[in-house]
Amino acid sequence: MAGLPPCAIVLPDADAVAREAAERLLTVAAATARAAICLSGGSTPKRLYGLLAGPDFRARVPWERLHWFFGDERVGDGPEAGSNRRMVEAAFGPDSPVPAGHLHPIPTESGPDAGAAAYEAALRAWYGADRLDPARPLFDLVLLGLGEDGHTASLFPGKPAVAETGRWVVGVPEAGLAPFVPRVSLTLPALGSARALLFLVTGAGKRDPLARLAAGEDLPAGRVQPQGDVAWLLDREAVG
Ligand code: 6PG
Repeated sequence: MAGLPPCAIVLPDADAVAREAAERLLTVAAATARAAICLSGGSTPKRLYGLLAGPDFRARVPWERLHWFFGDERVGDGPEAGSNRRMVEAAFGPDSPVPAGHLHPIPTESGPDAGAAAYEAALRAWYGADRLDPARPLFDLVLLGLGEDGHTASLFPGKPAVAETGRWVVGVPEAGLAPFVPRVSLTLPALGSARALLFLVTGAGKRDPLARLAAGEDLPAGRVQPQGDVAWLLDREAVG
């Protein structure tokens, strides 16, 4: 389709996007004894996370073999921050199928920089090395969203975090879009260290950033270069 990312799949609606993402996650999970999945924040993926824990998929997900990480987090306990951890825990529900120790939230209580350092240490410990090897991706699957300004995770246009190539996780003192709270974000090298990567993009609000990406504008979401396959799952609303 003209004007869309090269590996765009257009689906009828947000539910179809979530279902396609769930099926692809199951395929990733079936291919390995222990899968590391990097979760996107925001509102779009709530539907997917609820689906996975719901009656249609719960019994199909090998929960014991999956570990769930976060691509970014908002700093702050208040509802205005909209913690991604809280969003994920709410979506998985009070009877969450995620075994203890398999959800790896980003610590934010000591601020963005300390949280970034702690999470980078946790990722290195999980990975078992201090350097990312392209032949051995950190994540089996990375899920990402697209902000209306073209950001992804908490890598906002024009902010220093986008250009970070040494660190795996950085503090983001100023968000480029609401909620305007400090963030902790994985960097492009960490997000790109993926066997498979899915962008989940739904709603008319994403037409503009999609068009800007298609026009070749250099936006953070367009800079993610996974080692493995990347697919953009879009609903009709987002395509227009
Ligand atoms: C976050 C996300 C962010 C999100 C986009 C899209 O913490 O906000 O990681 O990158 O994916 O902002 O958000 P929506 O899904 O709410 O449109």
